[in-house]
Amino acid sequence: MMSAQQMLKVFVTRRIPQEGMKILQNAGMCNLSVWDSDEPVPRAELLKGVAGAHGLLCLLSDKIDAEVLDAAGPNLKVISTFSVGCDHLAIEEIKKQGIRVGYTPDVLTDATAELTVALLLATARRLPEGVEEVKNGGWSTWKPLWLCGYGLSGSTVGVIGLGRIGLAIARRLKPFGVKRLLYTGRQPKPQAQEVDGEYVPLDTLVRESDFVVVSCSLTPDTQGLCDKTFFSKMKKTSIFINTSRGVVVNQEDLFEALSSGQIAAAGLDVTTPEPLPTNHPLLTLKNCVVLPHIGSATYSTRGVMSELTANNLLAGLTGSEMPSELKL
Ligand code: NDP
Ligand code: DGY
Repeated sequence: MMSAQQMLKVFVTRRIPQEGMKILQNAGMCNLSVWDSDEPVPRAELLKGVAGAHGLLCLLSDKIDAEVLDAAGPNLKVISTFSVGCDHLAIEEIKKQGIRVGYTPDVLTDATAELTVALLLATARRLPEGVEEVKNGGWSTWKPLWLCGYGLSGSTVGVIGLGRIGLAIARRLKPFGVKRLLYTGRQPKPQAQEVDGEYVPLDTLVRESDFVVVSCSLTPDTQGLCDKTFFSKMKKTSIFINTSRGVVVNQEDLFEALSSGQIAAAGLDVTTPEPLPTNHPLLTLKNCVVLPHIGSATYSTRGVMSELTANNLLAGLTGSEMPSELKL
């Protein structure tokens, strides 16, 4: 047990599942300061809270940039994010300052892939519209031409970014009778064999897929990737799904593609901004299903993410091997 003076200051930017908090509390080395709320920490409180900290446990909604690092000062050894995505972290700055980064790959892969499949089916088979019609009296009788959508059987699915989550999505979709599984990325993946994945140029994927699923990480190359040109190449009967990050999509161009009938429908778990304002044009469209970034939201997944985030942080504080360290 460390003396009060030896305790290392840790700032936690949100209320997180208790599994992780217990690990930090029981470690006996952290002087914990928590933004004890379900809502994001205001910027001014983040800058105040991080001052002098040795460790920072943050969320994807916290922008960790040079200003935050300056506010933290030279004690800061480790940033542990409660996410697999690290696009909210100024990686170059962090690297320059020799700070280690922990993140949560793998443990949320199944939950996110499952949600992506749910979103795809809900969008393609128009589930939110159907539920609404039942409630508002629009359901008059069984009608041959009413609420028809698109099925996966015999279809071509294109996955943009066949990483951990992309592959898990492909594995789940194949048994629905998918005929061709196309994917694109920076290089072909040997593990694609498992799903008979065909590595193709982006252009081919967009033109030939009945379902385009975006599961890549957000990088300068993928920011704005899905724009007017991209949607103009998709078939009029195709469905667009994004569970990656909102800014991979140009939302004005997506609105245009959906409202003009250029593409059939879209399902989004991520948007710009988050939350999407309730008066956003995309929310006026019946053929757009928007979820509030719940890809990893199962009780058990969030519990395990919390444990991993805490263990990464402790390893960073003690200078030992992290369970999941981001290679900088
Ligand atoms: P991985 O790193 O395993 O996969 C990311 C994939 O993106 C890699 O296959 C990579 O390809 C690909 N990629 C990178 N650049 C490009 C590009 N220019 N074009 C096409 N593909 C590209 O990460 P995960 O699968 O674990 O997570 C992926 C992302 O999903 C996260 O970064 C996060 O943004 C998002 N996510 C969203 C969740 C939600 O709640 N909706 C939950 C969890 C994650 P290559 O290997 O060839 O470089
Ligand atoms: C992530 O981890 O990057 C997700 O967006 C939330 O789980």
